[in-house]
Amino acid sequence: MRKPIIAGNWKMFKTLDESVSFVQELAPRLAPFDSVECLVCPSFVALSPVSQALKGTGIAVGAQNLHWEESGAYTSQISPTMLQGLVDYVLIGHSECREYLGDTDERVNKKVKAALAHGLKPIVAVGESLAQNETGETESFVGGQVFAALTGVKPAQMAQVVMAYEPIWAIGTGKSASGELANSIIGMIRSTLADLYGSDIAQATRIQYGGSVKPGNMAEYMSQPEIDGALVGGAALKVDDFVSLVEIAAQEKGA
Ligand code: PGA
Repeated sequence: MRKPIIAGNWKMFKTLDESVSFVQELAPRLAPFDSVECLVCPSFVALSPVSQALKGTGIAVGAQNLHWEESGAYTSQISPTMLQGLVDYVLIGHSECREYLGDTDERVNKKVKAALAHGLKPIVAVGESLAQNETGETESFVGGQVFAALTGVKPAQMAQVVMAYEPIWAIGTGKSASGELANSIIGMIRSTLADLYGSDIAQATRIQYGGSVKPGNMAEYMSQPEIDGALVGGAALKVDDFVSLVEIAAQEKGA
């Protein structure tokens, strides 16, 4: 069985102090739900104190991005070697990084390979725009993103990879894909993984849904067989909501 995984993507929210007090409050409340893997992805400046505060709690920490080079003249960038030992996960290919920071499929692929080469587990985000959704291009576009992101990733490395389907039109908009729609696209992502790596690896890979997930719609997603968790923005900024999301995942997945 795939262990459910809930990730909080804090984006550019929370100061260092707010980040640390948040996880100090969150950690004891998530302790009863160790059948669900949980992680928070704070800003880069808060990674070190948040990792420190979460030591021994079972809650993992992720970075929101990375550069693929180990070092170099890349002002403002963070390399995989800087993240090694500090975080467990790294978000790669989030639509905001694709849109505002110029992450192309090729760069996403370089980042995925760099993360894996340095023992960091990538959460690889894919998803279509509203226009692509409306013109029926979702499957071909998302399938292409998956294929591009994983080019050169070896079968043995796939145990470290988490995929996240985030339709762009559902991120931060309050509009969310129906559970059924999300399930069917995630099923399609799994068949793309099966084409690339065979069915055992495809069946073992966890695939999250993301886009306006909140306590009120979490059960709709978690009751779907293909959806293994959620990548959450807004609702992950509140301790009560975060705890509810994890509680619902544990219930719905019978975990
Ligand atoms: P949202 O963000 O939950 O606020 O829609 C999700 C994400 O961007 O990962």
